[in-house]
Amino acid sequence: MNVVMIGAGYVGLVSGACFAEFGAKVTCVDKLEERITALQQGKIPIYEPGLDDLVRKNADAGRLAFTTDVAGSVANADLIFIAVGTPTRRGDGHADLKYVYAAAEEIAVNLQGYTVIVDKSTVPVGTAREVARVVKKANPDADFDVASNPEFLREGSAISDFMRPDRVVLGVEAERAEELLRELYRPLNLIEAPIFVTGLESAELIKYAANAFLATKISFINEMSQLCEKTGADVNAVAKGMGMDKRIGNKFLHAGPGYGGSCFPKDTLALNRMAQEHGVGSRIVEAVVEVNASQKARMVSKIREALGGSEADKRIAVLGLTFKPETDDMRDAPALAILPALIDRGATIIAHDPEGMNEARPLLPDSVEYAENINDAIKDADAVVLMTEWNLYRGLNLSDLREAMRGDVFVDLRNVYERGLMERAGLRYTSVGR
Ligand code: NAD
Ligand code: UDX
Repeated sequence: MNVVMIGAGYVGLVSGACFAEFGAKVTCVDKLEERITALQQGKIPIYEPGLDDLVRKNADAGRLAFTTDVAGSVANADLIFIAVGTPTRRGDGHADLKYVYAAAEEIAVNLQGYTVIVDKSTVPVGTAREVARVVKKANPDADFDVASNPEFLREGSAISDFMRPDRVVLGVEAERAEELLRELYRPLNLIEAPIFVTGLESAELIKYAANAFLATKISFINEMSQLCEKTGADVNAVAKGMGMDKRIGNKFLHAGPGYGGSCFPKDTLALNRMAQEHGVGSRIVEAVVEVNASQKARMVSKIREALGGSEADKRIAVLGLTFKPETDDMRDAPALAILPALIDRGATIIAHDPEGMNEARPLLPDSVEYAENINDAIKDADAVVLMTEWNLYRGLNLSDLREAMRGDVFVDLRNVYERGLMERAGLRYTSVGR
């Protein structure tokens, strides 16, 4: 089976490599020449654990190739996945679909023989039908069907999420298209991963609803963390006790600095926009977005309070910049909201991140200093802020850390540590909701 992946980013590259691992012949197409040249040389443009080996192995086996040439790759394809970005459209929160429709047009004029065009990008309801219209307009003779196959992988665990999904959602109407998609995903039968086939609109909405629901859990527990701080309850205990109820589940109840990343922030906005456009609104998801923004702002106040009321002239070591560990992705990372606010009030920031510093540099104020290692970051710091829970930061030698610092403030925005341990090392400890 010949598969083409349009877009070799976090989703396109992982999905392409995994389909190749399943045995398909995959061509990943991207319009970024430097990205494709790097991939052709076996260099992976993003940090995702295990991806380099998987890409190299499948490229060496002749099942995975990279090109900028849409025309050449599309002609022989059985299935073409559109995995381009759908960022927030400036001004109105809607998902910007210009890359999706541009890809559809490019595909259309090069189609030969029956092909299924599959939206893997996260797209508002109605997009698959619009893609069909765009293709038909550009190439009235094209023999094709459209399908929706939203992707649920998480960055940092993308390969295992893709290889062992809770479910695969297929929005599809034509039987022939369904057969091809089922064939592509057949290796998942072995692990009995459910393939849920539904209509185009439902598949498109499932993706937004799932992301918004997960974001809701996070905003909910973050709101509870504030109440915990006022009442003396411990949010970790509250989450644990709630999560033991199987109807609630223990996942995505970890309080922190607010959700970030390339999906939740933009997808909650796009869902709100979609609901508004359809005249129904989404009060819950609107509140989720608001709570997330205020949680990030609350983290700034928390750091200020821990520093005795002012961050002016304070040296703050920030451990972790990416929105979560095991990725270099800085899109909508809480650090992008929190650090500029601290700098505006006179703080000096020395940041460290195992993988994200190159991505972070152009997005953060120029005054941020970047440390090569943890020791350089914490040296003479008035406060250490643990922003992202990389493993590297989970086992810090606290007495060494205290000795290297000028001050004694440790702000743990991910609730990694316990107060007793911190206090024994002579550190004044602040966390979230405890
Ligand atoms: P990305 O920005 O990492 O990658 C998109 C790639 O598409 C870029 O390399 C870009 O150059 C390329 N591209 C754009 N237009 C093109 C065209 N016409 N032809 C060829 N290449 C083109 O984006 P991503 O994070 O992989 O996300 C892609 C989609 O998947 C989005 O809709 C996103 O919401 C969704 N999604 C992302 C994740 C995630 O964890 N990142 C998870 C699930 C779903
Ligand atoms: C998310 C979805 O989980 C995934 O299914 C979808 O395909 C893409 O978007 P991702 O953004 O890669 O994945 O990471 P995720 O692990 O969901 O974390 C998103 C954000 O929520 C991070 O900033 C993380 O720190 C935060 N988070 C997550 C919490 O604050 N608390 C939690 O309990 C879980």
